[in-house]
Amino acid sequence: TIKGFAFDMDGVLADTAKFHTVAWHQIADEIGTTWTPELAESLKGIDRMGSLALIMAAGGVAEQYDQAEREKLAVKKNTHYRELISTLTPDDILPGMKSFLDELKAAGYQMSVASASKNAPFIIERLGLAHYFQAVVDPASVTAGKPDPAIFSAAADVLQLQPAEVIGIEDSSAGIQSINAAGETSVGIGDKNVLQEADINFATTADVTLTAIKSGWH
Ligand code: G6P
Ligand code: MG
Repeated sequence: TIKGFAFDMDGVLADTAKFHTVAWHQIADEIGTTWTPELAESLKGIDRMGSLALIMAAGGVAEQYDQAEREKLAVKKNTHYRELISTLTPDDILPGMKSFLDELKAAGYQMSVASASKNAPFIIERLGLAHYFQAVVDPASVTAGKPDPAIFSAAADVLQLQPAEVIGIEDSSAGIQSINAAGETSVGIGDKNVLQEADINFATTADVTLTAIKSGWH
């Protein structure tokens, strides 16, 4: 029996993927990596230093940057990103997600946040969503980022639920892999071809309802 839901945040609850993209694009320009939609997609769900490593690898410039220089670039990206998200309001909750959260709350499900973002508590607060969640997993507390199962395992643990009792909701391929590897049921939001491994898929957040999930609608 499903008793709880573990939510990714960026691209699921919050319309913030566009801000990550803007901030990383600027860093890519600075280090000479050509920005492409495929590169942007591959960064979804990947933590900050991991994203930077992928951008450097895509430009073939990884060996030019040591750890100290990488940390400077990551700080620069996050400073820019924090500026972009400083104006977030409840209007930036993705379509349909507020009513979905209300539906789950009314039905008595437990909910947690499994985001790779260290900015998650700030963003959840800005969106006015904090009261829905029993816990926000601290990504710094898990041993490995998505696609490793650690963060979605932790998202079940904080609810004191077994993985089989939890549905994970994600917009990234790395996140769907994490949910599946944790032994939970995966709901993918976005392009079916990108999220092939999801147990249930929805094209957009607006399509997500409890009824649709229960019937395993595709
Ligand atoms: C989410 C986003 C990624 C981002 C990561 C870390 O998973 O999908 O694009 O890199 O969070 O975010 P942070 O706010 O800690 O830099
Ligand atoms: Mg996401």
